[in-house]
Amino acid sequence: MAQLPHPSPSPDRRSFLAQAGAVAIGGALALAAPLAGLGVLLDPLRRKSGDGGAVHVAPLAAVPEDGLPRKFNIVATRVDAWNHTPNTRIGAVYLQRPKGRPESAPTVRAFSVVCPHAGGFVDFHTEKNCYLCPIHNSTFALDGTVLDPKSPAPRGLDELEAEVRGEEIWVVFKNFRPGVKERIPV
Ligand code: FES
Repeated sequence: MAQLPHPSPSPDRRSFLAQAGAVAIGGALALAAPLAGLGVLLDPLRRKSGDGGAVHVAPLAAVPEDGLPRKFNIVATRVDAWNHTPNTRIGAVYLQRPKGRPESAPTVRAFSVVCPHAGGFVDFHTEKNCYLCPIHNSTFALDGTVLDPKSPAPRGLDELEAEVRGEEIWVVFKNFRPGVKERIPV
């Protein structure tokens, strides 16, 4: 039996299919932008270090040996959904060299400058030998613990992983959720 030729879509049907395709593509594009934006919100500072997140911060010799902290900027490549910006300041840390360590095995402690109460920036007060957040007067001891019990900060300063490699200091830089007792990376 002879086969009937497959009927080609009518002009109306072709027009409908073209419109449906356009709507589907438009919808996908409309969804893509907010999802990309959501990625930025969830992870606004995706650093590119290629080294487990560690960022080179400073030479060991730049941190005083007397145990007093010194503040350093964290400079890394900022990557978000639309931009790739090298050598950008993404935060800051205080570095300290605990006293009494042998020269052959120096260690460094790193504390975030961000107050765990509500995100103010703490300063180190040399004359009082403590960190102070000027926003609501939380104070922190040299080891990062809350000093004055009246401080509204719910936890001590956030300590970051720091490592001495040769004569250089590397830090795994993170931010943490303010206003809660637990340290929750954001
Ligand atoms: S933000 Fe630091 S004490 Fe409130």
